[in-house]
Amino acid sequence: MESTAAVLLTSPGEFQTTKVTLDEPRQGELMIRLVASGLCHSDDHYATGDLQPKVLPFCGGHEGAGVVEKVGPNTPGFEVGDHIVMTFMPACGRCFWCSQGKQELCDNGAQSESGGRPDDPNSYRMSVDGKPCGQMTGLGTFSQYTVVSTTSAYKVPKDVPLKYLCLLGCGVGTGYGSAINAADVRPGHTVIVMGMGGIGASAVQGAAHAGAANVIVVDPAEFKREMAAEFGATESFATIEEAAEKARHYTNGQGADSTIVTVGRLQPQNVTDALESVRKGGNVAVTAVGTFDPVPVDINLGMLSMMQKTIKGVIFGNWSPFVSVPRLLDLYRSGKLKLDEMVTREYTVEQVAQGYRDMHAGINVRGLIDFEK
Ligand SMILES: NC(=O)c1ccc[n+]([C@@H]2O[C@H](COP(=O)([O-])OP(=O)(O)OC[C@H]3O[C@@H](n4cnc5c(N)ncnc54)[C@H](O)[C@@H]3O)[C@@H](O)[C@H]2O)c1
Ligand SMILES: [Zn+2]
Ligand SMILES: [Zn+2]
Repeated sequence: MESTAAVLLTSPGEFQTTKVTLDEPRQGELMIRLVASGLCHSDDHYATGDLQPKVLPFCGGHEGAGVVEKVGPNTPGFEVGDHIVMTFMPACGRCFWCSQGKQELCDNGAQSESGGRPDDPNSYRMSVDGKPCGQMTGLGTFSQYTVVSTTSAYKVPKDVPLKYLCLLGCGVGTGYGSAINAADVRPGHTVIVMGMGGIGASAVQGAAHAGAANVIVVDPAEFKREMAAEFGATESFATIEEAAEKARHYTNGQGADSTIVTVGRLQPQNVTDALESVRKGGNVAVTAVGTFDPVPVDINLGMLSMMQKTIKGVIFGNWSPFVSVPRLLDLYRSGKLKLDEMVTREYTVEQVAQGYRDMHAGINVRGLIDFEK
């Protein structure tokens, strides 16, 4: 089966429109017809060369929603026509982490980074001219059709419009969970969110829902600062220095209760700044990604211990995708979670590279591919 997809042929490189060939779904797999896919910054790390795909060509996209087109043999629980949100972490349900309800750390997650199957990293379902084509996190949602493992497929009710639910597959679950889980935002807290993209806008919503008194956004892009209030930010600044000063103003000179780092490309200085901005007992949630190579970070180690600060890494908002998707879906259905409003511009699959140029220009909270456009 042929499909039109946005694929990297080189890294660094730009996403290009290419015909890919899809294999039939095997046992435990589904072929999905995409309805929508978010343009998360994580795919762009492979385009800029911050991160290297394990195999080229490489089909991007890990934040998708679509409809089941075909069900693999002996694959109970799914039918043609089911509505699916694809989650960038699979949940095998059986590994050490899944067994504790920590499915965001599922052992199969690392394997799906290969672009192959979550349970078999050397096995591919997509190809270009007979060569295996990697699928971002085993999904590859920048394609009209894709074949995914049921461990990455969450079935959602058909009475909720599917399009904007794609954002639950990565950005919203990650950002919202960064606030309520990793940063542990509580009523009355003062919270700083560094970076107002799809992840940051969701962290702002999570912090506001958790009852934060002050949600202070930092973003150098003016448009992002203008948009922040729509999601629950109480104010926004261009620099962390201004935000930290305001947080100290609210807390008798102490600093923010937590700072959530959701900048586009993580720099060591962001972690230094975030740690400086929080009070005694404060939390720093590091959600952004820059490189997988070790890099030195300036940290006042004495103050880290004496002030009992925490630096917490975040993967998928530190909650199970199969918990976060239904919870966030209920919040959306009840009108409390803003998803449609997060999407500034919509693109065709041929326009993915333009979508990422717009992301870098700071003019999208989130870009989205509408496959039905
Ligand atoms: N840990 C995870 O599970 C996970 C999941 C998804 C995405 N991510 C990562 O989260 C990060 C954010 O993703 P996104 O899709 O929201 O990106 P994005 O590019 O849409 O948004 C990032 C924002 O950060 C702003 N920014 C840049 N430098 C800044 C600085 N020094 N201070 C404050 N703001 C700054 C940009 O102007 C932009 O608005 C990326 O690094 C992405 O790879 C991590
Ligand atoms: Zn993502
Ligand atoms: Zn698992």
